[in-house]
Amino acid sequence: MSGIRHTMFAHVIYRTRRFQQMLQWYETVFNAKVQYQNPALAFLTYDDEHRRFAFANLSLLQPQGTETDRHSLIGVDHVAYAYTSLSDLFENYARLKEKGNSPYRCVHHGITVSMYYADPDGNQMEFQVDCFSSSEEANAFINAHFSVNPVGVEYDPADWLTRLRAGAPGSRARVADPGLDSK
Ligand SMILES: [Fe+2]
Repeated sequence: MSGIRHTMFAHVIYRTRRFQQMLQWYETVFNAKVQYQNPALAFLTYDDEHRRFAFANLSLLQPQGTETDRHSLIGVDHVAYAYTSLSDLFENYARLKEKGNSPYRCVHHGITVSMYYADPDGNQMEFQVDCFSSSEEANAFINAHFSVNPVGVEYDPADWLTRLRAGAPGSRARVADPGLDSK
């Protein structure tokens, strides 16, 4: 049995049509501060993690909708858990794949290398590895790049697993190594 486990809860993403109200509520209740904000997306944190909450503004992203109270439309989008190294993330991917569980999406976000899974009810979760060793570096990246590309690039997890097993660097500090970048 594999001993690979995530090391910590990382963040939760909410979809909302009460964008400003939600930001103010989480700032007040959690003493959180806004780390990054544009009209569609905001990141808040209450500690040294680069984000603990993110809010997607559905009023801007899906303006044709009007629902403010129906869960699944608004509410939790996904919860994220962090792994300490690319090796852990991708060996866990291999373990889960053998058991018939594959991610529905894999994205290199720039600040994290992420895999998205859904449980049998369709609840979404993200397994991630940080690309930077400090939130200052992550925030600098966010402020420099998110206005151009807030999502990142999709990658092929099988390809990355092969390269990691062939000896490509798998520690967190080397995630941004160009040799591992998918594009
Ligand atoms: Fe996320």
